Amino acid sequence: MEKMWSGRFSSSASSLLDEFNASIMFDRKLYLEDIEGSLAHAKMLNKQSILTDEEYTKIVDGLNQVKDEIESGKFEWNISDEDLHMGIEKRLTAIIGDAGKKLHTARSRNDQVAVDFRRWTLKKNLILVESIKKLMNEILVVAEKHTETLIPGMTHLQHAQPTNFGFHLGAYLAMFKRDIARFEDSFKRNNISPLGCAALAGTPHNVDREFTAELLGFDSVSVNCLDTVSDRDFALEILFNISTMMMHISRLSEELIMWSSYEFGFVELSDEYSTGSSIMPQKKNPDVPELLRGKTGRVYGSLIGLLTVMKGLPLAYNKDTQEDKEGVFDAVETAEISLEILKEAIKTMEVKPQNMEKACAIGHLSATDLADYLVEKCNIPFREAHFITGRAVAKGEEIGVDISEMEFKYFKEIDDRIDEDLMPYLNLKHSMNARTSQGGTATIRTKEQLDYFKDFLGM
Ligand code: ARG
Repeated sequence: MEKMWSGRFSSSASSLLDEFNASIMFDRKLYLEDIEGSLAHAKMLNKQSILTDEEYTKIVDGLNQVKDEIESGKFEWNISDEDLHMGIEKRLTAIIGDAGKKLHTARSRNDQVAVDFRRWTLKKNLILVESIKKLMNEILVVAEKHTETLIPGMTHLQHAQPTNFGFHLGAYLAMFKRDIARFEDSFKRNNISPLGCAALAGTPHNVDREFTAELLGFDSVSVNCLDTVSDRDFALEILFNISTMMMHISRLSEELIMWSSYEFGFVELSDEYSTGSSIMPQKKNPDVPELLRGKTGRVYGSLIGLLTVMKGLPLAYNKDTQEDKEGVFDAVETAEISLEILKEAIKTMEVKPQNMEKACAIGHLSATDLADYLVEKCNIPFREAHFITGRAVAKGEEIGVDISEMEFKYFKEIDDRIDEDLMPYLNLKHSMNARTSQGGTATIRTKEQLDYFKDFLGM
């Protein structure tokens, strides 16, 4: 088939090249942005008297017809057209004749693809923000019910101090709020129009870049054309934003997997979002969080892939850049479904407060409170208090009780300065509620934090 660029060639491309070179099978996802970009470009050319009114009208009608054909599945995507830009322009010319050949005046596929892909990506930044908010909403609903539910706070996956489950979920709300800020920030930074940069150096035609920028919803016009046609920072940013968000999703998934085990028993995922085993009839497997944890890997792969594609490119456009799209498409799709399914899994899971509280009764979670008591009430230096507490823990281990349950006489034996007024300090709920410093786990502080996230979400 004759190529649009066939003028300087004497024999036609091999079909192997066609297959290797083409992006049309995946970049067709950008069809709407491509048609909108062409409509804006044509309108500007008409305003600048580069296209006549008649040519302009034909182009608008033709592009609308192409759009209908694509949306109704009638459009023929041909690998020999190479990419969607040429596929659409070719069809346009077939429909409207010579006027179609004028559309590409003062434009190159280099600024065209930069416009299309940038706009598609920018939109997705905002769509993902909305999906994260929906997930946060569901997390908040659960968190608010459990601001008094004790759960062992851990470091090194070892019992550390008592916290509450609402506080624990609040940590994830903080992470997702940062993710939102990153997506919004990328949108603002990258909402800049490449249109009119043409191949790399601008154009001698009298174009109005401000006009097309405004038509396409960009905030401004790019400053340097050479940079613009090969800038893929917007694509790298969304990949980084998604990677970081997936890392947060993966950490929460890891906890859901652990919490669903018999050993923890803190939550039970609903039947709707769990799977069975083909051999072991008793099994209920947390496939959803496992897959979320697993899919995080492929998103990182796309980020590293594109960073690597870009690192050695001389200015300006190089065909390597065509490799930017599939990774971004895949990462966005992964992010969209991941947010949706995690939201549903959280909404439908059963929380088991009794098991969380039972888990707090082992591991001497109030040991720090004993040390704090010795410092505050007995005026003992913290290092010494730490040592005395260690002795108390050793005693508890020896007689097989948690220090929160140990009788007063044992403490007295360890250090005579200890008084009976110690006992309430060892109570686990007291311990949790004692941590009233800003951002702390005390129920009143946790509620403040959740209110902050509610305000943020406008709940
Ligand atoms: N399909 C190409 C891409 O996605 C469009 C730009 C092609 N430009 C060129 N000079 N070959 O990058």
